[in-house]
Amino acid sequence: MNLPISDRLLACAGFVNPGDRVADVGCDHGYLGIHLLMRGIARSVIASDLRKGPLQSAKDNAALYGVADRMTFCLSDGVRDIPRDFDTMVCAGMGAETMISILEAAPWLQKEGYRLILQCQIKTHLLRRYLSEHGFRIQEERVLRDGKFLYTVMEAQWEPKGQVLTPGQWYIPPVMLEAPDEKFPEYFQWVRGSLHKIVTSRGETAPDWMQDADRELSVLAEQLKGVPEA
Ligand SMILES: C[S@@+](CC[C@H](N)C(=O)[O-])C[C@H]1O[C@@H](n2cnc3c(N)ncnc32)[C@H](O)[C@@H]1O
Repeated sequence: MNLPISDRLLACAGFVNPGDRVADVGCDHGYLGIHLLMRGIARSVIASDLRKGPLQSAKDNAALYGVADRMTFCLSDGVRDIPRDFDTMVCAGMGAETMISILEAAPWLQKEGYRLILQCQIKTHLLRRYLSEHGFRIQEERVLRDGKFLYTVMEAQWEPKGQVLTPGQWYIPPVMLEAPDEKFPEYFQWVRGSLHKIVTSRGETAPDWMQDADRELSVLAEQLKGVPEA
């Protein structure tokens, strides 16, 4: 029986290393963890959700696909009530504000060794800003398409020196420019166009950081003109 997992979650799974102990926070149906166990990628999976209904559906699906004995299920707001014996946390399908509140409540994740795999649905620049201001470095970020929309999946880790990003880099992080994937040009145009539209319509009432980001992306657009596409 095929697992109906989305390309978006498969892209998240692609960031998990063989043998990882994974916490899938906001697991809903549980498909990500089930996939990781069925394929022998993860060593163990903690599936957690804020709500009872989704968690029950994760339990039912895990039983259906024969992996329930290797999954731990937790009803938890973020990582508040889950065991800490994992090395990779996946948070997918949520907006930046929810992800930030989950990270904010768990300063213990600011420690070398934890890997965060984050797939943000909306306001991703706020998530990158938060990471940068709390000592996390974005190690890798890939663009993916799910239906009509473009998203990214990123891997971040806390490190002693951290990584300071400029406002423009909250929208287009350096790692995307170092290793642009094939969807990068489309993503860049979309992000730049959306930001520029907001800044233009808000005029002087747009916050300074947003105006700075808009200027940075204009400069970047000029620089990218001479760069052959990936
Ligand atoms: C849109 S679903 C995404 C499910 C799955 N991760 C995916 O990407 O397909 C978001 C899930 O996150 C859960 N959720 C929202 N806020 C949460 C929080 N603070 N802690 C844990 N789970 C949360 C919701 O109950 C819901 O099941």
